[in-house]
Amino acid sequence: MRQKLENRVAVVTGGGSGIGKQVCARLAAGGAHVEVLDIDPQAAGKTAAEIAAAGGAAAVHRCDVSNRAEVEQAIGAILDRSPIDILINNAGIAHVGNVENTSEADLDRLYRVNVKGVYNCLAAVVPAMKARRRGVIVNLASIASSMGLADRFAYSMSKGAVLAMTRSVARDYVDHGIRCNCVAPGRVHTPFVDNFLAENYPDRRDEVFAQLEQSQPMGRMGAPEEIAALIDYLCSDDAAFITGASIPIDGGFATLKA
Ligand SMILES: NC(=O)c1ccc[n+]([C@@H]2O[C@H](COP(=O)([O-])OP(=O)(O)OC[C@H]3O[C@@H](n4cnc5c(N)ncnc54)[C@H](O)[C@@H]3O)[C@@H](O)[C@H]2O)c1
Repeated sequence: MRQKLENRVAVVTGGGSGIGKQVCARLAAGGAHVEVLDIDPQAAGKTAAEIAAAGGAAAVHRCDVSNRAEVEQAIGAILDRSPIDILINNAGIAHVGNVENTSEADLDRLYRVNVKGVYNCLAAVVPAMKARRRGVIVNLASIASSMGLADRFAYSMSKGAVLAMTRSVARDYVDHGIRCNCVAPGRVHTPFVDNFLAENYPDRRDEVFAQLEQSQPMGRMGAPEEIAALIDYLCSDDAAFITGASIPIDGGFATLKA
């Protein structure tokens, strides 16, 4: 039987850790050839090695998504070999703070990675997808894209922009065979969360972790595999009628009362 993503080439940014790593594994398990882009080449290498050990195909590119030239070089190298069917804009960084204690440097850093990084990858990949009249893009938004979360000023700014870019690209390329959607996860247990706790609550990690879990309607955080399963679906032909959508995957956080 044919695999769902057989012969498709998928670019995953931030594929070295957390959600991105599970997305790489899941797409590879569906038959896709995965191109792992990450600022951390060792982490990306581990992802690719695990895929190869499971019988899948993956390649690694060290790439800072905030750097236009690096993105163009990595995407150019991939396009020299094969077309790109799938782009997952997953690389992202966190920040805690309100408008008063978010520095200009913090705001610029979040913008560079979470907003411009997505733009850089879209700008590098969309023309080639448009020329083939086919392509699927999934962006990592967040519940912060549309909810007022405490102390997430710069992060919410960046994820609101991801939601807006998703709709804009979906609209502009609906006639060119390109689907563009985003997923809006609530809290997912990844190194992103562990690093956040280590940096911000070094003495109260376990306590704050338990608080974060209890603040979820389901009493737990999401698992990266659960986000990867949704992204896998959005990439597949089963989702051929879905574009311009933001799909919540948050255990009810955005819609259920505690
Ligand atoms: N974990 C959560 O609770 C959660 C919730 C909602 C949305 N998200 C979003 O999901 C995405 C992945 O989050 P995660 O929790 O898996 O994070 P993570 O920190 O576990 O992994 C992020 C990966 O991105 C890479 N990366 C960071 N900056 C980069 C850059 N400039 N260029 C290339 N690669 C870079 C890192 O090296 C790492 O491998 C992010 O966009 C995040 O905002 C996460």
